Amino acid sequence: MAQSIALDGPAGAGKSTIAKRLAALLGLKYVDTGAMYRTLGLACTRRGVDATKEEEVIPVLQTADIRVGYVGDTQHVYLDGEDVSTLIRTDEAGAMSSKVSVHPPVREKMVDMQRKLADEISVIMDGRDIGTVVLPNAFLKVFLTASVEERARRRRQDYLLQGKNKTQEEVEEEIRERDYRDSHREVGPLKQAEDAIRVDTTGLSIEQVVDTIRELYENRQKEAANA
Ligand code: DC
Repeated sequence: MAQSIALDGPAGAGKSTIAKRLAALLGLKYVDTGAMYRTLGLACTRRGVDATKEEEVIPVLQTADIRVGYVGDTQHVYLDGEDVSTLIRTDEAGAMSSKVSVHPPVREKMVDMQRKLADEISVIMDGRDIGTVVLPNAFLKVFLTASVEERARRRRQDYLLQGKNKTQEEVEEEIRERDYRDSHREVGPLKQAEDAIRVDTTGLSIEQVVDTIRELYENRQKEAANA
């Protein structure tokens, strides 16, 4: 039986860092679903499409060849055969992906791809709707949060590494905007599943968060073995 983890939460909660560590520790395949929306966002940028208009996004969705592959344990995404894994990491691509992800046909296709990736093996999948829509029967569901201030502090550090200097207020505003859009779309909004365990990472180190979730997973395994 697959024993997959659904890891949801807002932008900047630390999902991908935590998921990668847990994947290595627990022997799970890491699936980054945001990367798929980002790749579609990039396809829209390249074709000069207005990502807020569903009728403009649909032809891109139908014709862009978006694939997910693995090099060792690392997920890569491909757009029309080109490895765009690094190109999709900009904040422009992040904003674009948030816009394309509101359209129902986009979500339908992505959810389908994501379920196929988790078909036969245990995965740790991070996103916004994994516990609610993509893997409703996940073995463990975790909803990772942190305060807006803390998420903005972390994001500012990332920006500094990219040579960008933004104020704390600017980054907090960006995060609030993204949270609002991600939580208020009609299909697959960012929302904690009823049976998800909430882990607030404000003030915690990466190791502390990893340990907390590993413990939750191992406890679930014990429960399942005794059931
Ligand atoms: O996790 P991320 O920042 O790479 O995600 C980029 C955008 O993709 C995010 O703003 C919302 C969207 N997304 C989504 O709608 N559903 C998911 N499962 C993952 C990401």
